[in-house]
Amino acid sequence: MNARKEIGRASQFLAAAAGLGLFFAAFNFAALFVPPRREGSSVADDDGRINWFTGDRELAAAAGKRPFHVAMTAMADPYSRWQCRIMYYWYKRAKAAGAGAEEMGGFTRVLHSGEADDLMGEIPTFVVNPLPPGADRGYVVLNRPWAFVQWLERAEIQEEYILMAEPDHIFVKPLPNLVREDRPVAYPFFYIRPAKQEKILRKYYPEEKGPVTNIDPIGNSPVIIKKSALTKIAPTWMNMSLEMKMDNKTDKAFGWVLEMYAYAVASALHGVHHILYKDFMIQPPWDLSVGETFIIHYTYGCDYSLKGELTYGKIGEWRFDKRSYLKGPLPRNLSLPPPGVPESVVTLVKMVNEATANIPGWDDDDDDNSELRSKFEELNELHTLKLIQETEKNYI
Ligand SMILES: *[C@@H]1O[C@H](CO)[C@@H](O)[C@H](O)[C@H]1NC(C)=O
Ligand SMILES: *[C@@H]1O[C@H](CO)[C@@H](O)[C@H](O)[C@H]1NC(C)=O
Ligand SMILES: *[C@@H]1O[C@H](CO)[C@@H](O)[C@H](O)[C@H]1NC(C)=O
Repeated sequence: MNARKEIGRASQFLAAAAGLGLFFAAFNFAALFVPPRREGSSVADDDGRINWFTGDRELAAAAGKRPFHVAMTAMADPYSRWQCRIMYYWYKRAKAAGAGAEEMGGFTRVLHSGEADDLMGEIPTFVVNPLPPGADRGYVVLNRPWAFVQWLERAEIQEEYILMAEPDHIFVKPLPNLVREDRPVAYPFFYIRPAKQEKILRKYYPEEKGPVTNIDPIGNSPVIIKKSALTKIAPTWMNMSLEMKMDNKTDKAFGWVLEMYAYAVASALHGVHHILYKDFMIQPPWDLSVGETFIIHYTYGCDYSLKGELTYGKIGEWRFDKRSYLKGPLPRNLSLPPPGVPESVVTLVKMVNEATANIPGWDDDDDDNSELRSKFEELNELHTLKLIQETEKNYI
């Protein structure tokens, strides 16, 4: 399958839909950055320096019990809330599995809306403030580093390690602490390419620090890192995000993934280098099976014909897309995909169904904040159009 062609179709579809006012804009537009399909264990990368970490998980787990705290940053809109509930359900299930879960510590939803919401009783939550009005320039994810800064400063965290997680992550099995020799562990994203962005990155990562390939091709999540290292990185990450956002050229070059670059640069500035671990998670529909991985990240829409053929960028006869449920929880008991759809997608839907069947009061989470919602949708629409342009420029 030709991914570029598929993106072309996706953008045309999105542009047309947006033009017609039909498009309910999405929150995480990483959806348009279509990763190459994985073949075996070789992942091409033109940055040269990548040392893929494979295997040795047993070794990591045997290195002793080093519990990590799961910190999931989130907003308070209905779309974030249903994802948080599913995420927390599977965290509990993984932790309860016993073997392999010894290092899974506590869990916190770091809620960056500045106000408690009605999930406080269901999910352990720490409320932090959003950035002051206007500071994020409409880019809501800039609240993430600020949320971590506040949480690390104010919360009492028992564990020495932190897993930075997101609401659209599902644990498919217990996760050990993958940190080795104090090196944090991150999932490498194929679209974060420091070598290709050298000119821009030099503004933030001066020559004397070394080659820009010292910057890891990652974002802040998923990452497992020592709390002491994150405490150093987080304020720089926050400043870096704001600085990059204020610079029109940088903003334009990095677009939706600016905050990921900000984390990558901030950690490199502190001399922190991550183990790049591609089996950390999978991203259906591009990754076909769960295999030895730990997390399913459902940011991409999964569209299939009834014959089980992927129809990416075109609404499928069968589909699962988190963005279909911006205004409230997705329904219980979603229909399973037709035969021929990859195991990763089938597993995802089964896991979503199991969570929604077992979470009490699943349908009760009514949307009670319509003002927030419309602001959210407005911002997202704006970002979508911008991202479409960027995607076309960079990938087609
Ligand atoms: C972040 O920026 C503020 C304001 O410019 C500055 O006072 C602070 O020292 C910076 N912190 C870091 C860690 O760079
Ligand atoms: C940056 O972009 C903003 C909004 O697009 C604009 O108002 C501002 O003048 C630009 N700044 C510079 C220095 O180009
Ligand atoms: C879920 O839906 C299927 C049909 O798609 C139906 O056969 C099944 O009974 C439903 N299960 C529950 C628990 O509602």
